[in-house]
Amino acid sequence: MVAHSMKRALLLFAAGVIACDPSSPPPVAPAPAPQTAPLPVAEKPPTGEAALDDLRGGQLYDRWWALAPYRGAFEPDDGATGDRLDGKGGPNGNGTLNDAGGQPIANDGHDYRLKSFFGWDLRGAEGIYGPKYQNKLYVRVENLLARADLERASLVEMLRKGDDTLPAYGEVLSDEDLQHLAYFILRVRDGVLPRPDQIFDLDQGAPKGYRLRSGGDAERGRAFYADACARCHGADGKKKTFDDGRHSLGSHARTAAYEDWFKMLNGQPGTAMGRQLPGRHSGSQQAQLMLDLFAALCDRATFPSEIEAEDAPEGDPRCGPY
Ligand code: HEC
Repeated sequence: MVAHSMKRALLLFAAGVIACDPSSPPPVAPAPAPQTAPLPVAEKPPTGEAALDDLRGGQLYDRWWALAPYRGAFEPDDGATGDRLDGKGGPNGNGTLNDAGGQPIANDGHDYRLKSFFGWDLRGAEGIYGPKYQNKLYVRVENLLARADLERASLVEMLRKGDDTLPAYGEVLSDEDLQHLAYFILRVRDGVLPRPDQIFDLDQGAPKGYRLRSGGDAERGRAFYADACARCHGADGKKKTFDDGRHSLGSHARTAAYEDWFKMLNGQPGTAMGRQLPGRHSGSQQAQLMLDLFAALCDRATFPSEIEAEDAPEGDPRCGPY
């Protein structure tokens, strides 16, 4: 009510300024709006922090083409069908993206996803997709979490332009989305969001190259699971299966926590699952909550597998101390 009448008063005031006052001469032309400060001459002002959305950035990092407005307009060329270019959309109309020189980059399994180039842990070749661990051929050398010098503007430029192996994302993603992406990356780097190194350690001796860190509280994790996950995933984590029916949530978490931490943080792009962690928590509190969840999910009696052979075997190091 108060806001409404204030708005009304402002409108009346504005109308009074513009309207003809019979006692003064008729206005010749509307006067230009007074300017209190000179406006910047070049470009648009940089996107303000308040407009940035690290959740959208995280989902774009995972699978940008699962999100509106790209969903349906872009489908990556199928890397498995060799030279046949059978995707949809993008600068070449066939589901490929170009390098910085305008030449198409072939899809050798990366599907043009940022998570493929920099890894689920954002650490590039030093991280989970690097040669010492999962050894993905398309992994980039940059460890985004170790680049203290990287600012949002330069990160946006890097993604926009690409280079000889990184797609020029500026050809498909909007400027706002590039900003959201960079914002997400820097918020993880700076620990405002949880960091992967708070949740798992890289370990060459463990399957998939990682092991969960200690310090998780399974009881707290069980309570949080019942609160936040059970309605969609079922009390035993078996309501939905993953990877073509091979995994329950339990076995997925026991074999791929390096990926699932990211899903807990950003949800599954293009599905009903959004961010699952309370936004009011600090990055390290959220990391703790995830560790609690993983500790709970490592209990195979409470969270059984879908297909036992797909689960981590008893004594597997990935579950660390749990
Ligand atoms: C609103 C429903 C909903 C809630 C709440 C929810 N999820 Fe999900 N979750 C989904 C859907 C839908 C998918 C995607 C299934 C698919 O891809 O087929 C999914 C996928 C996942 C995946 C991805 C597995 C993969 O294939 O990569 C993980 C991990 C996961 N959820 C964990 C959790 C955890 C842990 C919680 C609680 C903290 C949670 N989810 C809460 C609906 C939900």
